[in-house]
Amino acid sequence: MPTPIPADDAGIARAITLLAQGGLVAFPTETVYGLGADATNEPAVRRIFSAKGRPADHPLIVHLADVAQLPDWALDVPPAAAALAKRFWPGALTLILRRAPRVLDVVTGGQDTVGLRIPSHPVAMRLLAGFARGVAAPSANRFGRVSPTTAAHVAADLGDDVDLILDGGATDVGIESTIIDCSRGRPVLLRPGGISVDRIEAALGQSIGQRDADAPRVSGSLASHYAPLTPVSLVASDALCRAVAAAADRGTVAVIARSQARPDELDRHRVHWCALPDEPARYAHLLYATLRRLDALGSTLMIIEAPPPRVEWDGVADRLKRAAHR
Ligand code: TXA
Ligand code: MG
Repeated sequence: MPTPIPADDAGIARAITLLAQGGLVAFPTETVYGLGADATNEPAVRRIFSAKGRPADHPLIVHLADVAQLPDWALDVPPAAAALAKRFWPGALTLILRRAPRVLDVVTGGQDTVGLRIPSHPVAMRLLAGFARGVAAPSANRFGRVSPTTAAHVAADLGDDVDLILDGGATDVGIESTIIDCSRGRPVLLRPGGISVDRIEAALGQSIGQRDADAPRVSGSLASHYAPLTPVSLVASDALCRAVAAAADRGTVAVIARSQARPDELDRHRVHWCALPDEPARYAHLLYATLRRLDALGSTLMIIEAPPPRVEWDGVADRLKRAAHR
């Protein structure tokens, strides 16, 4: 299994060489770790799908260093997309645009659009600027599993199927980018994520649409994506303690709470109680590492306190809903 290497000048130079040779490089972004390949090299991009075990028709996001590269990838950049790029790039936003003719079908899943993002993580920025071509990168996890937020998660998931893992520490945002489709007129939200919709709408000066039947496919929109192996149950705050006590009568329980401390009367041997911050950005930062850690306990059930129904929590709520889907 490749040991993650420090993301210093030598590590980044090695990663750039590997990308140019058609290799697979895992690298940190501010959202989650990506599994990158040269987006203009078809065999290299194909290797991403086999390493992840991901269906070949699921499109990949192309990561760029600079908006000056946009004309290479997008046929046109409508005013709404330009406004969002100006406001949120580099950052946790992916824009779906009509694709330029040169973009490989293997990257777009054969669709006439392409997903583009300029990440803000300093390691990603140096890698992309040094490579100077687009890097196609999904999250660096096995298909359907929780996205990696540390280099160790990547190594545990992908092992020898990746040529190099750049270790840039734990990612900051902790959940994936927000995806906005700007290819069909009014911007549409395809995936909530690191940037909340109210901020997107404030930057646009208009409300955005919700996904509809014509929306381009997003693999994260499969109901069961982001699932731990332990069955997950989402429970309202006021029912949390009762649900945990009942589940502890039947087996062992891992709990992710948000608004409340562990009640003293719960059986310490049967209930593993973990409290995450009651603030969406700090919660998201810790969520995936916590899901992995609790999943490894092999409990009978994982019970997660439902997030508040507020827009700042939408990215987290989306991931929890999928984690709980069976
Ligand atoms: O934060 C992120 O977005 C991370 C980091 C590594 O950048 N990447 C990520 O990639 O989450 P992935 O492949 O795990 O999820 C990207 C989503 C997929 O659900 C894919 O279907 C969707 O973006 N996507 C990519 N290109 C698309 C397109 N042309 N049309 C519609 N959806 C697209
Ligand atoms: Mg993913």
